[in-house]
Amino acid sequence: MAENKIFIFDTTLRDGEQVPGCKLNTQEKIELALALEELGVDIIEAGFPISSPGDFSSVEEISKVITKAQVCGLSRAVQKDIETAGEALKHAKNPRIHTGIGTSDLHIKAKFNSNRDDILERAKQCVRWARKYTDNIEFYAEDAGRTDNDYLARVIEAVIAEGATTVNIPDTTGYCLPHQYGEKIAFLVNHVPNIDKAIISCHCHNDLGLATANSIAGVISGARQIECTINGLGERAGNTSLEEVVMVIKQHHSLGYYTDINPRLLNPISRKVSDTMRMPVQPNKAIVGSNAFAHSSGIHQDGFLKDALTYEIINPEEVGADSSKIVLTARSGRSALAFRLQKLGFQFNRNDVDVLYDEFLKVADSKKEVEDADLEAMGKKYQSVKSVVA
Ligand code: KIV
Ligand code: ZN
Repeated sequence: MAENKIFIFDTTLRDGEQVPGCKLNTQEKIELALALEELGVDIIEAGFPISSPGDFSSVEEISKVITKAQVCGLSRAVQKDIETAGEALKHAKNPRIHTGIGTSDLHIKAKFNSNRDDILERAKQCVRWARKYTDNIEFYAEDAGRTDNDYLARVIEAVIAEGATTVNIPDTTGYCLPHQYGEKIAFLVNHVPNIDKAIISCHCHNDLGLATANSIAGVISGARQIECTINGLGERAGNTSLEEVVMVIKQHHSLGYYTDINPRLLNPISRKVSDTMRMPVQPNKAIVGSNAFAHSSGIHQDGFLKDALTYEIINPEEVGADSSKIVLTARSGRSALAFRLQKLGFQFNRNDVDVLYDEFLKVADSKKEVEDADLEAMGKKYQSVKSVVA
């Protein structure tokens, strides 16, 4: 079963923190790293040590406090970057250096004004540099999503031969379709002779909203690590969202994969990241959005109140969310109204609810959501009229 474990590589503190406005100080990063460890992530990408003294010290301090998860530092294929990452990670119990270079023809030409053979050599060289510090080396082939598969396979074979133990295949621009990304991973599984010596990792961006689908397609084709962030934070439209991939894997257990994430901590950590980074979560965000377990249309509410499974595939408690909500709007029906009135302590029969429903629709048409205070007023008014008539 072990080969069906999907390693969760969290990059909230690196790719996620690159988002404008999400900058964290060292203390905030330490607190989030501890929460990520408690959540059960396997690898924490703590930062990019060469990028600033602050990031160096964050990686260094996180390395001192994290005991179970691997702590990873990012670097370019540049000797000084790798030395700095090695230095920042020196207190880590399980350090990992993440190094690499762009491999698409576009990156090779536009960023490096170079050629495929030269980039292949630089890829091998960066792994050799990293080996001075650790045997736990992850190589990234930046823009692998748009890299020619034959060339990508040559690079991946060469870096594994140099000692890379994880090979990251980023869809850096979020361009691939799920079947294309899946086929790319399958191509590497079938054409890289030493691929069994490394774990393939998916690092998908969300420019077309496909990051989760692409990561899952990668896993189905043989990848065993997913790089992701809490709330899907990350460059531009973000990275694969941790809570989404974890719950896809859990809900579709027939696929046979598992992670070591504790799903009950998904909503608490989502709130913690959102508060610390001052970055709100969109209400309709899967798993952790405020509407993820809210039902507002009459048809859905009626079904949900008869059997929650009709409109919910996840029990909110399972992911640490507040209990499901029946939201009252002008689209709500009588069952939802009766349910909410009952929750407030009113004992109305079917006829009462029919009468109240007309009044309810008038209020609902005048505002976005009918609140408890509106219901209290409506219920009390109706009770007093009823008692006078009686
Ligand atoms: O998106 C990307 O390609 C990256 C690499 C640096 C891993 O973030
Ligand atoms: Zn990225």
